[in-house]
Amino acid sequence: MVPTETGFIRPQRSRGRFRHMDFTIRSASVEDAKAIAFVQVEGWRSTYGGIVPDAYLAAMDVESGTESWKSPLESSEVAAFVAEDAAGVFGFICGGKLREGGEGYDAELYAIYLLQDRQRGGAGRRLACTLAEVLRQQGFKSMVVWVLEENRRAVAFYKSLGAVQILQKAVNIGGAELSDLCLGWADLDCCLQGQVEAPSKHLDG
Ligand SMILES: CC(C)(COP(=O)(O)OP(=O)(O)OC[C@H]1O[C@@H](n2cnc3c(N)ncnc32)[C@H](O)[C@@H]1OP(=O)(O)O)[C@@H](O)C(=O)NCCC(=O)NCCS
Repeated sequence: MVPTETGFIRPQRSRGRFRHMDFTIRSASVEDAKAIAFVQVEGWRSTYGGIVPDAYLAAMDVESGTESWKSPLESSEVAAFVAEDAAGVFGFICGGKLREGGEGYDAELYAIYLLQDRQRGGAGRRLACTLAEVLRQQGFKSMVVWVLEENRRAVAFYKSLGAVQILQKAVNIGGAELSDLCLGWADLDCCLQGQVEAPSKHLDG
C-alpha cells in the first residue's frame, strides 16, 4: 500500500516575506495520473526552456504522459505523493529503490515537479521530506537524485536539504549534450532535518 500523509504548512517567514500557501500532501493514486502528467509537462517546459531543445519540449504531451504514469502509480514499488490545494494538484514527487547512482546508496528520488507559480512556497521541501520519511519506514537508509547541472535552482534546493554531489555523467536529451549530476543523502535523516513540521499522522510503510 502506498502510505498517506496529510498536513498543512503554516505561514513561514522566508527572506523577508511571509508564505501563505496552505496545501495538503497526500498519497498519489492512479486517478492522479493526468494531473501529474500535466504538472510534469508544464514543469519541464518552464524549467528546461533554453536548456533542452524546444522541439523536445514541444513534443511532450499530457495524454501520453498520463498513460505512462498509470503503471508506476499502481505499483507498490513506487512511493508517490501530490501537493494540492483548493485549485487542485500543483506538484508531485515519486521515488523508490535505487535505479542508478552511487554505490552504497539504496533509494532514489525519481522525480519532483511543481507548477511554476507554486514554487518557493515550501511544498518542494514538504514533498521531499514526506518521501524521505516513507522510504525510511520502508527500510531504506539513503537516497540519490539525478539533476541536470544547468538546473541550478533544483541543485540549490537539494543542497539546502543536505544533499552532496557524488557523481556526474554526460546525458543527451533531444540532441543536446548536457551534464547530469547525481546528488546523494548518505543518511535519510539528513534530508529529514529540513522538515517544516512533523507528519500529522503515522505513515504506513
Ligand atoms: C525544485 C523544486 C521542486 C523545489 O521546490 P520549492 O517548493 O520551489 O522549494 P521550497 O520552497 O521547498 O524551498 C526549500 C529550500 O530550497 C532552496 N531553494 C528552493 N528553490 C531555490 C531557488 N530557486 N534558488 C535557490 N535556492 C532554492 C532554498 O534554500 C529553500 O529554502 P528557503 O525558501 O527557506 O530559502 C521546485 O522549485 C520545482 O518544481 N522546480 C522545477 C522542477 C525541477 O527543477 N524539478 C527537479 C528536477 S531534478
